[in-house]
Amino acid sequence: MSNLSRMAERISRRTLLKAGAAVSAAGAWSALSSQEVTFRVSGKRIAVSSGNGLRATARAMELMEQGVDTLEAAISGVNIVEEDPNDTSVGYGGLPNERGVVQLDSCVMHGPTYRAGAVAALENIKTPSRVAQKVMERTDHVLLVGQGALEFARAMGFKEENLLTDRAREAWLRWKANLSLEDDWLNDEERQAGAKRPTGTITCLCLNEKGEISGVTTTSGLAFKIPGRVGDSPIIGAGLYVDNDVGAAGSTGRGEANILESGARIVVENMRRGMEPGEACLDVLKRIARRTVESRLLSAPGKPNFGITFYALRKDGLYGAANMHGVARYAVHDGERNAHRESLHLF
Ligand code: GLY
Repeated sequence: MSNLSRMAERISRRTLLKAGAAVSAAGAWSALSSQEVTFRVSGKRIAVSSGNGLRATARAMELMEQGVDTLEAAISGVNIVEEDPNDTSVGYGGLPNERGVVQLDSCVMHGPTYRAGAVAALENIKTPSRVAQKVMERTDHVLLVGQGALEFARAMGFKEENLLTDRAREAWLRWKANLSLEDDWLNDEERQAGAKRPTGTITCLCLNEKGEISGVTTTSGLAFKIPGRVGDSPIIGAGLYVDNDVGAAGSTGRGEANILESGARIVVENMRRGMEPGEACLDVLKRIARRTVESRLLSAPGKPNFGITFYALRKDGLYGAANMHGVARYAVHDGERNAHRESLHLF
């Protein structure tokens, strides 16, 4: 044993004794671990997605039924929405930043190998989730941003395209014409009263009959954001988290609130300790509500004025979602039926 490990052992024993635990270090560790719940593999295939993901869950299920890996299934599902010019919150056709440039965020996570990849502020590529997948597969990194992400995408053979559709450009011009109260630069008045703008995202979580779980989240982020703004969607632990022993969680809505809470990771940790998926999501919304104290972000004390939703899928096939305000619809394919379900809600 090295001097360093002897010192570490002495410190950890001292900490345990101080805490009044008359147990060995090994004993304390197993007591902590026993808080974890073990989930059986149900043999079910499930795909869960945000409300805009009914086509994603259908595609993901079709592929899982053919034996395709859960991550490939989840990404193929969201690719449909990323490539759809009519969805103004994701990929091609997404609303641009304040300079009129579409910048996309995405991350992917593969449960069986506990690997992940992500890109942020990526321009000119319709399917950021595919670039995130390449970051996972072809590099030793997890997250590439901006110009570096674009150069990497080029090297991987992705085609560059203008992502700004006429519809998104018109919406951006309308926003420019009303500039000030709806931009991200806070003046004194705006520090008191917040202005709301659209965020939209798609997340897709897939479980196969072997109990393998993966997920993807992808977005064009907050409309008219400050260039370079990165939301929660490419952040592993916030917009997405997967633990193959427990389950997966994804999020849509105000990214800033989610980054501060590391929401998806906490949802998974809640499930690890035995919470049902919907309850695990609701708990994170409660934490966010409790910690939101700036008046510009509140409609009443303790009541955030922004939208945010969490979605969760557990290894045993249970799933759920929770929304900050009112019931949100989310998409689920349970192997028999592909339909919208209703989330829990905090307010
Ligand atoms: N959740 C998407 C974003 O805030 O960018």
